[in-house]
Amino acid sequence: MTEITLEKVKENLYSRPHPSLTPIDIEAKAPIIHEILNLKARHNVVILGHNYMEPLIFNLSASEEQGDSLGLSRYAATTEADYIIFNGVLFMAETAKVLSPNKRIFIADKEAGCSLADDFDVGEIDKLREQHPGAPVMIYINSYALAKAKCDVCCTSANAMKIALAMPGDKIIFVPDILFAENIEQDLKGVKEVIYPGKDSDTKGAVCEVHEKFTLDDLFAVRKSFEMPKGHPTRRIYAHWECKPEVLREADFYGSTSQIGRDIAERVAAGKLERAFVASECELTSNLTAEFPGVEFYTACSVRCQWMAKMTLEGVLKILRGIDQGADLSEYEVLLEEEIIEKAKKPIELMMQFV
Ligand code: 13P
Ligand code: SF4
Repeated sequence: MTEITLEKVKENLYSRPHPSLTPIDIEAKAPIIHEILNLKARHNVVILGHNYMEPLIFNLSASEEQGDSLGLSRYAATTEADYIIFNGVLFMAETAKVLSPNKRIFIADKEAGCSLADDFDVGEIDKLREQHPGAPVMIYINSYALAKAKCDVCCTSANAMKIALAMPGDKIIFVPDILFAENIEQDLKGVKEVIYPGKDSDTKGAVCEVHEKFTLDDLFAVRKSFEMPKGHPTRRIYAHWECKPEVLREADFYGSTSQIGRDIAERVAAGKLERAFVASECELTSNLTAEFPGVEFYTACSVRCQWMAKMTLEGVLKILRGIDQGADLSEYEVLLEEEIIEKAKKPIELMMQFV
């Protein structure tokens, strides 16, 4: 194995344009990144990085190890590596464990939750099934394995529409994200009925505490402040599926985090993107800014996911040192009961057939 030098690490960091990354940060963090990258290579560890990771953490992952929930699940299912460190949130690391039960999966902080997964009670699934007998239950990947284990099929924001359409019958139950459900409901109007918690029943769903913050008025203000009128050929507002329906209708494009990135890449290649506002977690825009330096990006950095932000370089380094020294890593290792793995595997594997 060829050693990655500290100079090479610094050169790499300095070459990536990022407005909030100063030489002070680079000099302070480069030695930690240097140690992480060498331990990663020595032990053949995969470091999966969600698109919401802050740039220094995001770039611990090779480009094929970066992505949205769907891309990362796919990678976790096929990698040959014995160890996966998940830089994301707990439900994502759990999904990796379900797909690769024989691998050791680690996360720098097991408290990295998600309001969608944490605020949803699995008992609501039984109630909805009772109210709508025979309707298949599709569960958003932003949920714990225990909840997935009770459902028919899983989906991410990248494939929910496709899967909802493909499931049998004229009705589909979707849990737990109420705003995402309302968005799917609008797009499937006249084609398929979408049932979700709280719709005509006393069941309770959840929302993404980050995306629910964006309002229609915010988007109007952005259009005005940054001179981005609707329909402009090179200035676009992007929104994630978890935003409110009126926000999605106002946006010029909506999709998963990677779908947003792909639309930007296509427009940049065609010379059709000069300015963009992204209604999603702030660090997605940080990474897009580094990838597409020719585009003027705007976002709201008061909108950060507190759970994604729990991932730190120091946490990742502790895991790698532990692997290196054969130390007890129970604080970081994601473990699930075999029975839950078996049950949660079915809806996740069914989802994988659609991608
Ligand atoms: P993506 O699947 O689009 O990456 O989204 C995950 C998520 O948690 C969005 O808030
Ligand atoms: Fe969950 Fe929202 Fe954070 Fe994504 S951004 S992990 S949906 S709380």
